[in-house]
Amino acid sequence: MTSATTDRVVIVGAGLGALYAALTIAPYPVLMISPEILGEGASSAWAQGGVAAAMDDRDTPEDHARDTVLAGAGTVDAHVATAVCDEAREHILNLTTLGTPFDRTDDGGYVMSREAAHSFARVVRVRGDQAGAEIMKALIATVRETPSVQVLEGHLATGLEVVDGRVTGVWVSQSGDERAAPVLVQGAAHLLAGGGSGGLYKLTTNPPRIRGQVIGMAARAGAEIADAEFVQFHPTAIACGEDPAPLATEALRGEGAILINKLGKRFMERLHPDAELAPRDIVARGIYAQTQAGYEPALDTREAIGPEIMTQYPAVAEACLRSGIDPVTQPIPVAAAAHYHMGGIKVDDEGRASLDGLWCCGECASTGLHGANRLASNGLLEALVYARRAATSIMAGLGDAAPAPEVLVETQGSIAAPREDLVADLRQIMTDKVGVVRNGADLKDALARIYLIEFSQPNCDALKNMTATATLIAAAALKREESRGAHFRSDFPQTNPTGERSVMTLAEAMDIR
Ligand code: SIN
Repeated sequence: MTSATTDRVVIVGAGLGALYAALTIAPYPVLMISPEILGEGASSAWAQGGVAAAMDDRDTPEDHARDTVLAGAGTVDAHVATAVCDEAREHILNLTTLGTPFDRTDDGGYVMSREAAHSFARVVRVRGDQAGAEIMKALIATVRETPSVQVLEGHLATGLEVVDGRVTGVWVSQSGDERAAPVLVQGAAHLLAGGGSGGLYKLTTNPPRIRGQVIGMAARAGAEIADAEFVQFHPTAIACGEDPAPLATEALRGEGAILINKLGKRFMERLHPDAELAPRDIVARGIYAQTQAGYEPALDTREAIGPEIMTQYPAVAEACLRSGIDPVTQPIPVAAAAHYHMGGIKVDDEGRASLDGLWCCGECASTGLHGANRLASNGLLEALVYARRAATSIMAGLGDAAPAPEVLVETQGSIAAPREDLVADLRQIMTDKVGVVRNGADLKDALARIYLIEFSQPNCDALKNMTATATLIAAAALKREESRGAHFRSDFPQTNPTGERSVMTLAEAMDIR
């Protein structure tokens, strides 16, 4: 079989945006394409902090939007920030109804965490650092009970089919064996919700499959990509040698944990008045500088949190213990690691990409909310808001729901899987030359090397999707001759007085190299 046509809406991905969109579209039939068992390998399940929302009576969506704009370093679309922050509360109530066990106060309110650059404790949480995992668990249970949603597990989308500028299908192969020849699945509409690009970097907090493939596939089909250069580095990935690196949530710093170096000295106080709670890009660069200078930065939770870290932050505690670090008695070694791609497939207010017939939500989409520096815990919020908008927009173009038969995808034959040595080289280049601190010479060198990697295995779509996104990040970083938010150029350290979002196609990025 080389193709399958279905009346179902086809959703690529299995994270928060994909699940929430599928539930919004139900009972209209949906086909979800999930590379692994539903929920496994999705970044959303690894999100520790939670979802930002003005749930406290003393807080307001206006303040949340203002913080979002300020953190974004001049390139947030203020109208998007206002609209997203306004909707936050109703999505938290909806997730609660769907079974998310958010931490609650004795009087029934939500327990709120404080995270950097928020003017208020504004992040709803589940058992300290379990928000992503628990939200996903609740949504997966609901999706499993929704008969109109067919989940194709163990399958990976590798390309889009475009006819006369309109997306008409998705090429799918088995993810366990990317060698199997892909099948073209043509649905009633196509929604990409397949995550960001963090895993393109050697040092990352993202699950292993999140390597820019979905952004790359849309770019290769001709979609416009916005803000590609804006990659957020999380300051406190646990530096324990694991790949991916486990996260030590920012909420720990919100509780008073401090950053020290091997001399036992705090270093953030002299870099920003808010010290450890400065905007994420500033803390990431502070950590990076300490690492580069050999000062071995560490997160010290001993005084602020003490033994409660074991019960209040179980994921962090478990990751530490796994690596022989006792967080009750020892500082936790940390490093800045690629964490979230603010850029992605450019979408409008309804989640529509620049190609007809294509919608996107979640980290792979670029809505204008995050600018050059995403405010902590706005990522899951954006996924919720744009999943529902994209789903609603898709539904507006479809008729009434009617049962659709299950789609059978039987791949066969043999194509190439990405060579592991090439993927390893790509990740090393991105960390070394397109990382926390960039310069023109390194970025040009990175573009040349990415090109060589791509042409070392020209017949491999999965690799081409990765190199396409890597090319876009490096080219947009080269073109932006200033420093802004997470994008820092040592050869252009100043911020230009006016900041515009960058928008480019893959063809334009290839011209830059
Ligand atoms: C964290 O918990 O520190 C990560 C939250 C986020 O990236 O939004």
